[in-house]
Amino acid sequence: MTIWALADHLKKTSVMKITFLGHSTLLLEIDTTKIIVDPFISGNELASHIDVSSIKVDYMLLTHGHQDHVLDAETIARNNPEAIIVSNYEIVQWYAAKGINGHPMNHGGQYAMDFGIVKFVNAIHSSVLPDGTYGGNPGGFVISTDSRCIYIAGDTALTMDMKLIRKTSPRIDLAVLPIGDNFTMGYKDADIASDFVKCDRILGYHYDTFPPIKLDKEKAKAYFDSRNKELILLNIGDSLEV
Ligand code: NI
Ligand code: MN
Repeated sequence: MTIWALADHLKKTSVMKITFLGHSTLLLEIDTTKIIVDPFISGNELASHIDVSSIKVDYMLLTHGHQDHVLDAETIARNNPEAIIVSNYEIVQWYAAKGINGHPMNHGGQYAMDFGIVKFVNAIHSSVLPDGTYGGNPGGFVISTDSRCIYIAGDTALTMDMKLIRKTSPRIDLAVLPIGDNFTMGYKDADIASDFVKCDRILGYHYDTFPPIKLDKEKAKAYFDSRNKELILLNIGDSLEV
């Protein structure tokens, strides 16, 4: 059965809207469902105009346990008691102990949520929760509806495993890739990653937030231009549609 067949029961989705909330934080809107990814807002000076308390979501996707990906997860969960955290088993258990709803996954697994199919895929990185608890292995997400498919890499190095993503998904309409270097791949490796997932439309993230990941944005964009690819760098609060 193809991933599209699994999605057959889903209603037609015209677009996915993605709003960049700084660092690695994304707000996805798929039909009426709102999904926040890796909320790190209150600790990001560049995102001081975003009000965490106003965020309304149905799901929260967490790629790994590092503070710069989960800082505001508990606050958002308390403000949205029906919201479900989707992450690896260890992270979901950590939040479950705080009384927060979750849906645990592990690498290579996919699950049909009410907004689309979520697959938890490999990332090369580390993962520890803010209190030192083991945070499982880090991952990324492939999210597909009946008409759209995006890859959110999370914090990762360039890895050959990315070649498998394209083999196990219908296509990738947008690849969200870290480009800030130092803690993750930099933009030149992200260009190779975009080859691996066969996607020429890239949303860059995980840059500029801290001094070691300061990015020369014009240089990075020109690099992708020279390869006939589009590197999108959104201002914090701006959106794109897929
Ligand atoms: Ni990290
Ligand atoms: Mn990070």
